Amino acid sequence: MSDLANTAASAKAQAPGRVNLIGEHIDYNGGMVLPAALSIGLEVKLTPRDDDRVLVSADHYDEQAERDLGETASGHWSDTALGASRKARELGLIACGADVTIRSTVPEGSGLSSSAALIVAILKAARKLGEGAHSDTELAVAARAVENDFMGVPCGIMDQMAVALATPGTAMALDTKALNYELFDLPISHALVVVHSGLTRKLTDGRYGERKEECDAAKAHFGTDDLCMLDPASISASPLPPAIRKRTMHCVTEHARVLTAIAALKSHDIAALAAAMNESHVSMRDDFEMSLPAIDALVSDACKLGAEGARLTGGGFGGCIVALVAKDAQDTWLEQLLSRHPRARFIAAA
Ligand code: GLA
Repeated sequence: MSDLANTAASAKAQAPGRVNLIGEHIDYNGGMVLPAALSIGLEVKLTPRDDDRVLVSADHYDEQAERDLGETASGHWSDTALGASRKARELGLIACGADVTIRSTVPEGSGLSSSAALIVAILKAARKLGEGAHSDTELAVAARAVENDFMGVPCGIMDQMAVALATPGTAMALDTKALNYELFDLPISHALVVVHSGLTRKLTDGRYGERKEECDAAKAHFGTDDLCMLDPASISASPLPPAIRKRTMHCVTEHARVLTAIAALKSHDIAALAAAMNESHVSMRDDFEMSLPAIDALVSDACKLGAEGARLTGGGFGGCIVALVAKDAQDTWLEQLLSRHPRARFIAAA
């Protein structure tokens, strides 16, 4: 990532990409999640303007985008920066529009929170320019609102909290209801390796929203916003359609696995962490039905070739897997995995 120069009337800020180690689709269902910040990330330079234009340039797009603060999302790559700039003005951090320059090493559409990182970085840069004393948590909540209300992405709060508050090499045990969190170090002996399946997906493509609606139906039935604390017996006995019962059961079991994984990380119990990751993949595949055959094959080969544990990570239906691999075996393991899966590619190791 090249460094963007600071000028008197501008500010820059960074945010990392994130990988979720465990706790999928429960950040909008009352659960605990365990994301970790990656060494890949992005940097933003924000220069306020005295008109209502937003000019966006990024090192991974050839053309500059020129938008108006009054515009709605159009599906263009610059929507995210536009939505974040609108939010910065709404929070009183900038008075009008802005020039936004982006340098990024986070691949888009991979489930590594490139858009959360961009929004959070723009809000953090704007905070440096403005009078606002917003905390990082407040900016994360504002960033989620940009995704939900401006971009039309019905996501939870995990990504924004992780990229706003975690630093590379740390995992964040996040209570998505109370927004309390604890940061702690990742294991020294093992790497958490992120491999892209080669299948891209967007959270706006409908399948993420479908799962959210199924969870909302369960919430309405049980009269709670917290699916993760339901009694499994009451889920099995409910008259809900089988698919919704399975989604709900995933929330309960996934939340329990996150608690196991947090305890395992703290006590350096690699076997327990690996088992929780493997069980999580099975639950995502069979109960939440958010995996794809090619991803199941990648996860299965990752384990056969020596990873202690592996699972799909992120919103699902494509994107990345994360595998727990002994550091001294990592290079050979990766070479063999990528030769069996030519579409897959290495992204980062946490
Ligand atoms: C995406 C969303 C998150 C979360 C994950 C699944 O990354 O942005 O809020 O729901 O999917 O765990």
